Amino acid sequence: MTALTLSTAGAATLRADAIVVGVAKGARGPVVAPGAEAVDKAFDGKLAAVLETLGTTGAEGEVIKLPAPSGLKAPVVLAVGLGPVPAKGEAYASEPLRRAAGTAARALSGTKKAGFALPVDETGDIEAVTEGALLGAYAFTAYLGGEKNAKKKGDNGPKLPLAEIALLGAKPRDKAHKAAVERAIALTEEINRARDLINTPPNDLTPEAFAAVATAAGKENGIKVQVLDEKALAKGGYGGILGVGQGSATPPRLVRLAYTHPQAEKTLALVGKGITYDSGGISLKPAGHNETMKCDMSGAAAVFAAVVAAARLGLRVNVTGWLALAENMPSGAATRPGDVLRMYSGKTVEVLNTDAEGRLVLADAITRASEEKPDVIVDVATLTGAMVLALGNRTFGIMSNDDAFRTSVHEIAGEVGEASWPMPLPADLRKGMDSPIADIANMGERMGGGLVAGLFLKEFVGEGITWAHLDIAGPAFHEGAPYGYTPKGGTGSAIRTLVKLAERTAASA
Ligand code: BES
Ligand code: MN
Ligand code: ZN
Repeated sequence: MTALTLSTAGAATLRADAIVVGVAKGARGPVVAPGAEAVDKAFDGKLAAVLETLGTTGAEGEVIKLPAPSGLKAPVVLAVGLGPVPAKGEAYASEPLRRAAGTAARALSGTKKAGFALPVDETGDIEAVTEGALLGAYAFTAYLGGEKNAKKKGDNGPKLPLAEIALLGAKPRDKAHKAAVERAIALTEEINRARDLINTPPNDLTPEAFAAVATAAGKENGIKVQVLDEKALAKGGYGGILGVGQGSATPPRLVRLAYTHPQAEKTLALVGKGITYDSGGISLKPAGHNETMKCDMSGAAAVFAAVVAAARLGLRVNVTGWLALAENMPSGAATRPGDVLRMYSGKTVEVLNTDAEGRLVLADAITRASEEKPDVIVDVATLTGAMVLALGNRTFGIMSNDDAFRTSVHEIAGEVGEASWPMPLPADLRKGMDSPIADIANMGERMGGGLVAGLFLKEFVGEGITWAHLDIAGPAFHEGAPYGYTPKGGTGSAIRTLVKLAERTAASA
């Protein structure tokens, strides 16, 4: 992982491979952003003009490397686009800073050390730049270069991440600045760990392996971890989790992670869909729809990351994470379309489509989480293709049994730079899940499929508990070219939202 420190060095005197500066899009051409004054001076005040001649406009996503003039210790200057210059008197917003820092860090992969001279007037800017840089520097290298060279630079793959970042312009001895950087480092380390889990091939990341990772991380961070194996799940009557996992050679797990704070007044329960591979089961997915389905445990990865981050940050709130882990495979032992499962809640479910498996594992975990009467339950899941059709690849849907809570989760997501949108749970869609032989079917009307799935989950939420459901099927896994701080593959979607929600819950008590 990339190391980041606050440095009092000037942009001109820092010994590094490159200095990163911001360039914004002004009405009359590119504008050098605050923080880069010393660099501009070394260009005789002509950096903006040079950038303009080279075709730079300051638009988001732009990145250009220049040989440094003689006044700088670093040999290279990297200018990164920040988007439009903020209105007079306004500071740069967090998300453009986060993205620009990410773009710059990614463009510097393969190098050793860079100084970041971006605008960091406020504590929030320091946090955004740190987050963006450490998320943008991420690369999944575990499988590169063969056994001998594992984790070494691969000829056929991405370069090693930028090793070291010196953040310029902040004050290392300022308590608020230090705290902002420490929070951002803890958070991004957990996001990057979640990305690693998502990117790990499903032959290696089985439910058992995921549970082992959670157990080890729990030990390290003072989190209590309990793992229910297939025997314990059978004894407990977890028909949903077992029904989904029974076709696989690698059996399911339910993991409970409990971070507690002695002064906590509230308890947040987080439930994650952890399908380590979703083949669809007997209702097999066609080719073209199963190549990325190792990502179907992204909800569980997000929950895991959020609980560990809450512990590392010492938040004054109890956070319980539930990882519903199973592999959805077809076999002679697999659940068939037509089978009826008896869920942990006692409800019976007619499985009409074994590819609607996420709601089955989540239902059991939500029922179990409800027993502990948390103040709030939030589940996170790559649940439906329908949500991707509705909101696209970068926005997650939020459903809830409480409109005010749905709104506040949406607002929190916006504050941390995650795109989301509130979705309804229309009561009329419930009858589509009526079953002639069971309490409910696991499928309903095709239209509004994301909302149907939400309505299914709602039935398993304990009486009187505020609940929200985040369908991250779109943003969890990025198949296009990297942009900003978003790499190809697992993104770590929803983690920043969950951690901010935990912080808000702690502050509100
Ligand atoms: N894991 C998928 C949803 C998904 C789709 C995640 C695309 C990420 C990207 C889920 O288990 C699934 O297969 N859902 C079905 C439900 C249907 C059978 C009712 C779907 O959305 O088609
Ligand atoms: Mn499925
Ligand atoms: Zn799935």
